[in-house]
Amino acid sequence: MIGLPRVHHRIADSTNERARALAAAGAPHGTLVTADEQTAGRGRQGRAWAAPAGSAVLMSLVLRDLRDALPLAAAVAVCEALPAEAKIKWPNDVWLDRRKLAGILVEGRPQEGWAVLGIGLNVGTEEFPDELRDLATSLRLEGIDLSTADVLERLLHALDRWLERPTNEVLAAWRARDALLGEEVRWANGSGVGAGVDETGALLVETAEGRVALQAGEIHLLR
Ligand code: BTN
Repeated sequence: MIGLPRVHHRIADSTNERARALAAAGAPHGTLVTADEQTAGRGRQGRAWAAPAGSAVLMSLVLRDLRDALPLAAAVAVCEALPAEAKIKWPNDVWLDRRKLAGILVEGRPQEGWAVLGIGLNVGTEEFPDELRDLATSLRLEGIDLSTADVLERLLHALDRWLERPTNEVLAAWRARDALLGEEVRWANGSGVGAGVDETGALLVETAEGRVALQAGEIHLLR
């Protein structure tokens, strides 16, 4: 089972950063780093990730058994860990009630045989800053009363299952939770209607010019 050994920090710069240092020093597959609070939490595409102390699951796993569909499998696992109908907004934000509940950041050194899977999940946050109020949510705000320890345990069980599943099953589960299917999507150079994901995890969009495939990491969706 993943999650051992475990290092817990009351405060860390970033659990991903700590897990990367452990991975580079030879930590085994499944090593878990958690924190109550981060001073330099990282999000995708160079963004920051912030959460009030003790209000979120902040976790990073060292993985040495690498698979192509890791970010997709992680998003499905987060959804399945929740006692609610969560959806996935491409590439791997987990949504409840069309607001972001959890974010996933995979960082890796495939040539060195490891990746770090970082997950931030809002559990007890009661209020978000004005600019996030319509965009973010927490389990507490959705009426789900679980502690961060409960959520972490549920997450580890779900990850244990989904990180082993074949890619076709991961894709099917991901597609069943696709929040953008049939929805209008916009990015810097275009817009269209979400048409699912291909086997590489690229977002398919029907545009006036035809179907395009958007790669995570290259495209920032505006909507
Ligand atoms: C995103 O949605 O942009 C990804 C957010 C990932 C945040 C988590 S919190 C735990 C781990 N440590 C980090 O510095 N980032 C990830």
